[in-house]
Amino acid sequence: MRRPAEILPCDRLELRRWQEKDIDALTEAIRDSYDHLLPWSRLAVGDSREVATGLVTTALSEWERDEAYKYAITVDGLVVGGCGLMRRVGPGGLEIGYWLRGDWTGRGLATEAVAALITAGFALDGVRWLEIRHDAANLASAAVPRRLGFEEVKLQTAPDAPYPLMPGESGVVMAWRKACPSA
Ligand SMILES: CC(C)(COP(=O)(O)OP(=O)(O)OC[C@H]1O[C@@H](n2cnc3c(N)ncnc32)[C@H](O)[C@@H]1OP(=O)(O)O)[C@@H](O)C(=O)NCCC(=O)NCCS
Repeated sequence: MRRPAEILPCDRLELRRWQEKDIDALTEAIRDSYDHLLPWSRLAVGDSREVATGLVTTALSEWERDEAYKYAITVDGLVVGGCGLMRRVGPGGLEIGYWLRGDWTGRGLATEAVAALITAGFALDGVRWLEIRHDAANLASAAVPRRLGFEEVKLQTAPDAPYPLMPGESGVVMAWRKACPSA
């Protein structure tokens, strides 16, 4: 399979490819999660509507170029976060990213979303491993790959990060990998 499905159903949530109609809901999700996102995520930098518009617009074009497959995490139609598969960690690999609205944490939804991305990622042609990267100080983020059986592969200083660190970040990057079970 060249691309994942545009909708990935899960038990409690649905992953749905970002669409322009999501910009309002995404703006609200980012705005309402400012304090939660600020330590770790550049979603909290700048005007929320501009950030949301940029995210959706970029996600639409990245999908068409097969560079990344980014989804809204939705519960009963409500946008509660975002996640995606990104072709930026070298041939045979896909990176997974994720975030939740501040008021939707602590229920296993990020873990459930990433579990769906694992299945979708390994179904793509030529994908042999999946990787999750996060700042070493971001313990909530680390718990997601740990719960899903990823192995910690390296700690490294953030390589020539194009942006200043977010306030919670240490500048040390932790990477986790999961090999394709059928490889
Ligand atoms: C990273 C982030 C998505 C993790 O969110 P989270 O709510 O901790 O993760 P989950 O949705 O998987 O929920 C896990 C929690 O729910 C609990 N939980 C409840 N039901 C669960 C279930 N069915 N399955 C798994 N966990 C469950 C877990 O025990 C855990 O709680 P704990 O932290 O008290 O141990 C969130 O902190 C976030 O959005 N951070 C800001 C953005 C960010 O840092 N993104 C990552 C950048 S690399």
